[in-house]
Amino acid sequence: MSELFASDINSGNIKTVGLATGSTPLDFYKYVREAQPDCKAITTVNLDEYVGLAADHDQSYSYFMHEHLFNDVAFAKHFLPDGLAKDSAAECARYDEVLAENPIDWQLLGIGGNGHIGFNEPGASFEGTTQRVQLTEETLAANARFFDSIEEVPTEAYSMGIGSILNSKKIVLLAFGEEKAAAIKAMIEGPMTNEVPATALQNHPNVTVFLDEAAASLL
Ligand code: GLP
Repeated sequence: MSELFASDINSGNIKTVGLATGSTPLDFYKYVREAQPDCKAITTVNLDEYVGLAADHDQSYSYFMHEHLFNDVAFAKHFLPDGLAKDSAAECARYDEVLAENPIDWQLLGIGGNGHIGFNEPGASFEGTTQRVQLTEETLAANARFFDSIEEVPTEAYSMGIGSILNSKKIVLLAFGEEKAAAIKAMIEGPMTNEVPATALQNHPNVTVFLDEAAASLL
């Protein structure tokens, strides 16, 4: 995985990388911090951000990205949705413009236990662009571990849509642990259905999936 990133970055063909948060990419970001590939010409675009959290809130995805990557590795520019945007529709339109101006060459993805990608929960359209989304109970419960209590977990987020994710030239999805096994089986072997957002990737021409044994255990 790390070698793949290094060789793709060194190829000089990557201008924009799409980045993900969560516990899954932590080791990958550690590798990038240590390896220090030259990213000075690369722009980053993140998948999502919680509605209601300021960029400097310690549970915001902006804070996460600075903590795990941006403070240590120099990039050209960073884009994330603004969790405090006053006008949601304008914020979604702004982010769609960011994506139009910075087409993603290399998109990193994790996956939710319910098959969500970014914060596109079951039922999301495969053509979707950036939207303000309601998080499911399952996602709130899964993310509660990062907060003092489940009541503090924001119930909404801005997320790149599945359509925007599918526009990426190359997608690299990581999944570790048995709690991802059912979602991975559905993503790879199941029918394409909005009920499992990650099944949208079946139609993408360039997806690489890295799994540990537990996440692959139902295949
Ligand atoms: C969050 C993020 C996703 C991430 C998922 C899995 O909901 N929005 O981008 O893939 O959680 O998180 P984790 O890697 O912590 O299991």
